[in-house]
Amino acid sequence: MSYKDQIQKDQLPAHIAIIMDGNGRWAKKQGLIRAFGHKKGVQTVHEITEAAAELGIQYLTLYAFSTENWNRPKEEVDMLMTLFVETIEKERATLMDNNVRLLTIGDIDRLPDGARTRFLKLIEDTSHNTGLSLVLALSYSSRWEITHAMQEIAKRVASGELKPEDVNEELISANLTTAGIPDPDLLIRTSGELRISNFLLWQLAYAEMTFPACLWPEFTNEDLYKAIVDYQHRERRFGKTSEQVLVTK
Ligand code: FPP
Repeated sequence: MSYKDQIQKDQLPAHIAIIMDGNGRWAKKQGLIRAFGHKKGVQTVHEITEAAAELGIQYLTLYAFSTENWNRPKEEVDMLMTLFVETIEKERATLMDNNVRLLTIGDIDRLPDGARTRFLKLIEDTSHNTGLSLVLALSYSSRWEITHAMQEIAKRVASGELKPEDVNEELISANLTTAGIPDPDLLIRTSGELRISNFLLWQLAYAEMTFPACLWPEFTNEDLYKAIVDYQHRERRFGKTSEQVLVTK
């Protein structure tokens, strides 16, 4: 039986987050320059977005560009920014046809003006779609996000609007760029690296994680289905005992 047929449709993860790793290594393996790896990576983004939308996943967050990625050679950063703009224009119809709503998290003020404007326009144009929410983490890092949230909360405490004891988990969550988005249930990182790399550190508190060995350009819909099936076989205890979890099921 294929992995897709093994998925229990009533037990889907509401939110899947993916660290798309290995574009550069994939290109090197083929004797190509890194840019080809990113281009092939975009094709995988297309396939996986359609597969997630078709399954009925509510949120798919993709780590497309980290705060640290700004430190890559200028040539590669420029190439990635051009690729984003091209992809955004090219994928408009795919998003509409699949009823996908585009969202973003990250410090998008750092994006080049042209890229940011086109990106925000597409976010606006897809804002009435009711299917999958595709969250692109762009110029994102978790420590940047948490620092920014702390500054916002500190200002409100300093002004007397909030008392220190008003600061609780809900308030912190509400000040992150993911406010209103449920925490990921499942994290996938390709290429066999076993790291979180400054991605959704607060939000991944109870996520199940899987680290397939394949590189992102090689990641297929079957790999996505397998990750979901594996997830569905795990027991999520949220700090409770196995017996408590079974009673409340
Ligand atoms: C990691 O591979 C990938 C990135 C830093 C960029 C991810 C971008 C894409 C898949 C394309 C654009 C996506 C959208 C949503 C338009 P790496 O370069 O770190 O690979 P390496 O570790 O093998 O060098």
